[in-house]
Amino acid sequence: MTQIKPLPHIAQTKPYVPGGKLAGATGPVIMLASNENPFGPSPKAIEAMKAVAGDVHVYPDPEYRALRETIAEAAGIADASRVVVSAGSDEIIHLLTQSYAGPGDEILFTEHAFSMYRVSALSHGATPVTVPETDLTAGVNAILGAVSERTKILFLANPNNPTGTMMPVEALKQLQDALPPHVLFVVDGAYAEYVGPDYEAQIRDLVDRKANTVMMRTFSKIHGLAALRLGWAYMPEEIAATYQRIRGPFNVNGLAVAAGMASIRDADFLTKSRDHNSEWRTRMTEALNAMGLPTPQSDANFILPDFGTAERASGANDFLKARSILVRAVGGYGLPSRLRITVGSAEDNQAVLAALSDFTASH
Ligand SMILES: Cc1ncc(COP(=O)(O)O)c(C=O)c1O
Repeated sequence: MTQIKPLPHIAQTKPYVPGGKLAGATGPVIMLASNENPFGPSPKAIEAMKAVAGDVHVYPDPEYRALRETIAEAAGIADASRVVVSAGSDEIIHLLTQSYAGPGDEILFTEHAFSMYRVSALSHGATPVTVPETDLTAGVNAILGAVSERTKILFLANPNNPTGTMMPVEALKQLQDALPPHVLFVVDGAYAEYVGPDYEAQIRDLVDRKANTVMMRTFSKIHGLAALRLGWAYMPEEIAATYQRIRGPFNVNGLAVAAGMASIRDADFLTKSRDHNSEWRTRMTEALNAMGLPTPQSDANFILPDFGTAERASGANDFLKARSILVRAVGGYGLPSRLRITVGSAEDNQAVLAALSDFTASH
C-alpha cells in the first residue's frame, strides 16, 4: 500500500459518471445517451483535420490566435483577446473553480444542474451549494436566496442539462444585476446553438453588461466534435488574464484547432443541425406525451420523459438496452423516474419511439 495520499477533499470527490457504452453489445448500438450530433462533424471540419494531420509533430500556437480570432468573428465579439479556448468546456469549469474558489468558499448551482459543477467544487475543496428548482427550472429568487458572503461562483447552464429547461434572458439580466459583485456568474451555453443565433448573441452581450460574467461554450454538441475536446469562453479582461496564466501552454490540440475553425464558419451545417433537432424534438415530445410519458418542453438536443416511478424508468432503460438503444439514466441527478434521450437521426428517433411504444403497451 502506498503512503502517498491525496488531499482529503480529493479523496472524497466522486468522479463524473459519463453516458458510457452498452456492455456486451455485439451489433450496432443506437447511442442516444450523450447529446452528440447525429450528423457527426461538419464535412468541412473533417477536411480541415485531414489537411493538418501530417503536421501534428509540431506544437500548436500557444496563444491560439487564429482559433480565437475565428471564434470571435463568428460570435460577433470585437475583442478576441477576451476569448479563451480549452480542452472541452469541462476544463473551463475546472480552471475557473481553481482560480476563484477553495476551502471555505461556496459554489452555487441549481438542483438538477450539470454534475461537473459539483465534481469541480469538491475537487478544489470548495463547498457545493444546491438551489431548489421549480418545475425543473432555475429561478432568480431561489438563487439569490442561496447567495452568501462565501459564494464565489454561480454556475448556470441555460438551457440546462439534463432538464432541457432554460431561464428567459430577462431573468438572467435580473440575476446578473442582483448578484453581489464578489460572485462570478458563469453562464454555460453548451446548448445555446439549439435555441438560436439571437439567443447566442444575447448571452454574449451579458458578458459586456457587468464585470462579473463569463459565457462558456462547447464544440462537443452541435459542432459534433466531442472527441476532440474543444471549448471556449468569452470573459471580462481580468478574468481572461487569470485564465491564461494557469491553463496549460498547449491545452488545445492541433486537430481541434483546425476542426473548430472550419466548423464555426460552417453556418449551413449548424443551421441544418439546429433545424433537424427542433423538428424531431417536437415530434418526440408529442409522441412521448401521447404515450402517457409526460415530457416537458426542452430547449436543448435531448428530452426528459417521466415514467412515473424509478422502477418503471429503470425497466424502460433495460427494455431499451435489450434493443441496443442506449439512453441516459438520471437518478444521479435526482431524477430517478426519468430518462434523458438525445435527439438523434430520424431513424434512431423512430427506433426509440417504437421501442417505448411497445414498452408502455406492456408495462
Ligand atoms: C451543460 C454542460 N456544460 C458543459 C459540458 C461539457 O462539455 P465538454 O467538456 O465536452 O465541452 C456539458 C457536457 O455534457 C454540458 O452538458
